[in-house]
Amino acid sequence: MTNHKIIIAIDGHSSCGKSTIAKAVAARFGYIFMDSGAMYRAVTLYALRHKLVADGEVKREELINALPQIKIEIRYYPEIQKSDTFLNGENVEQEIRQLPVSQNVSPVATIAEVRQAMVKLQRKLGENKGIVMDGRDIGTVVFPEAELKFFVTASAEIRAKRRFDELTAKGETVSFAEILQNIQERDRIDSTRVASPLRKADDALVLDNSNLTQEEQLEWVIGKVEERLKF
Ligand code: DC
Repeated sequence: MTNHKIIIAIDGHSSCGKSTIAKAVAARFGYIFMDSGAMYRAVTLYALRHKLVADGEVKREELINALPQIKIEIRYYPEIQKSDTFLNGENVEQEIRQLPVSQNVSPVATIAEVRQAMVKLQRKLGENKGIVMDGRDIGTVVFPEAELKFFVTASAEIRAKRRFDELTAKGETVSFAEILQNIQERDRIDSTRVASPLRKADDALVLDNSNLTQEEQLEWVIGKVEERLKF
């Protein structure tokens, strides 16, 4: 196997395990893992705290004007396959995963100016390749030249069940119906927005993991990466 480093783009619907796959692939090949959704979540948290978004309604102009004041940093710890997201120096990793952010992030992510700022940050992180980035537009917009692209999907009900189990295991009291509705709504907004809608890149490999275990999907993905690294 050659030693050259590539960019691996993992796009797909929300809550279908993209970051779990991306982290495992990064660990296997000694690559950096980057969760681009965390960046949109951090912007959303800033907007919530400054009352620039509420109930899915964004104060667009004000948020665009605030962008220069929003500094986002993601630190990845490869030995534990975890990352922390910092918003203006504060670790907000826990807070950005909670429902208020999940309920407001899609409308924030429709704003072209927000996307431009995030894409700039993401491209900088990919300058030296050797990166696995997951998101919605990584293979189509951020790194259209990525050497390997995956498009991950699963049924909305299965995704909601997984997210429900994850939050319940953390001790949070959540409603399955609310989570399912949030996932369906995010799918709708992500796929129909004008700026960089979620779509499969023409050259992406599709992974429908509705009926696959984590081990099965990982084995398949790693096989594809190994194949790609051979040439
Ligand atoms: O992957 P996630 O669920 O943490 O992403 C949160 C939101 O951010 C998602 O609803 C859509 C948006 N997003 C995006 O528009 N582009 C990306 N590259 C990543 C996420």
